Amino acid sequence: IFLCVDTPPTPSGDADLSRIWQAVADLPHEETRRVLVTKSTVPVGTGAHIQAVLRERGYTNIGYASNPEFLREGTAIADFMKPDRIVVGAPSQEVARQVADLYQGIECPVLLTDVASAEMIKYASNAFLATKISFINEIANVCEVTGADVKVVAQGMGLDHRIGPHFLQAGIGYGGSCFPKDVSALKQLAGNSGYHFQLLNAVIEVNELQKRRVINKIKNYLGSELRGRRIALLGLAFKPNTDDIRQAPSIVLAHRLLAEGAQVVGYDPVAMKNMRTLVPEMEYASSALEALRAADACVLVTEWAEFLSLDWAAAYKVMAQPVVIDGRNVLDGSRLAALGFTYEGVGTGPVAAAQTQE
Ligand SMILES: NC(=O)c1ccc[n+]([C@@H]2O[C@H](COP(=O)([O-])OP(=O)(O)OC[C@H]3O[C@@H](n4cnc5c(N)ncnc54)[C@H](O)[C@@H]3O)[C@@H](O)[C@H]2O)c1
Repeated sequence: IFLCVDTPPTPSGDADLSRIWQAVADLPHEETRRVLVTKSTVPVGTGAHIQAVLRERGYTNIGYASNPEFLREGTAIADFMKPDRIVVGAPSQEVARQVADLYQGIECPVLLTDVASAEMIKYASNAFLATKISFINEIANVCEVTGADVKVVAQGMGLDHRIGPHFLQAGIGYGGSCFPKDVSALKQLAGNSGYHFQLLNAVIEVNELQKRRVINKIKNYLGSELRGRRIALLGLAFKPNTDDIRQAPSIVLAHRLLAEGAQVVGYDPVAMKNMRTLVPEMEYASSALEALRAADACVLVTEWAEFLSLDWAAAYKVMAQPVVIDGRNVLDGSRLAALGFTYEGVGTGPVAAAQTQE
């Protein structure tokens, strides 16, 4: 029996396990031997707690295993078929092997562990990836004041096999249903156990500030008064190829800009339905070009492929002011500058149209 219910954050930042306990309570009493396999991301100790509850209820026929899920939204099936590893934690090798055997035919390292270590592997992996993102974002911020280019820096760092090239793309911070909640849950888990996880506090704070830095960049071009300015947000989902807006940077950006009195117009190929419910104060456009019409600045928030292949010459004609803030460092700044745009990425320095024309 696979347990894969959601474990969202509570207001205190801990993982909300109410769905887990509901599902465990709903388990039927059966004669046949079963194994309850937890795929949901749960704090270390949850598996031990579930096993204690099962024992108390006399469910001696149900074995237990932790089998954390590592797939990414948008590439879920490919990730399932070709995982980097499969982790199964169980109180006995026999149960762990039984669960691992379900994955026969999938070629990758299989790690059999105890339950607590399997639970921690999931949190530690996500927290490490989030740390990598916040780290390169801080390097990007230092690049902005020192004149280095974070794209080149990341390339040079990534060639070191101990570092690797992945998760070194500077941007406006991580979002989504996993990183923010898992980093926060690990921080709280450590705190609840009496350990102050200092590094994670910094990772979270850097990520929060990173989203807000965009506002100052807009002000550098439009002036400090954003009241009445029209700002277009291209992309609302927390990443491309999903309609998921959970903890998306677009939400913070939209609210910050609205609080400054700006008119905010957003466009996303699939996430507008979800966003409309959450941020009804924002305008929603039927296409990227429509979003850019009469805009004083545009922020590329989600790197959807359609924004990369957008007709930027046409965009230049419809915008009130040709200012593009590329929150994902995916657009060709020199090309945009040649078209007349003022372009700024993250950690790459501004590329002004006038400079290029000289
Ligand atoms: N989304 C991801 O990319 C991803 C990746 C790795 C791990 N995870 C973990 O997997 C878990 C699920 O995440 P998700 O994004 O799929 O969540 P989700 O909210 O999209 O899906 C959870 C599903 O569980 C159902 N559910 C809740 N309580 C139930 C109950 N008592 N009985 C039956 N069904 C119930 C909900 O209706 C929902 O359909 C979380 O713990 C998450 O951290 C998610």
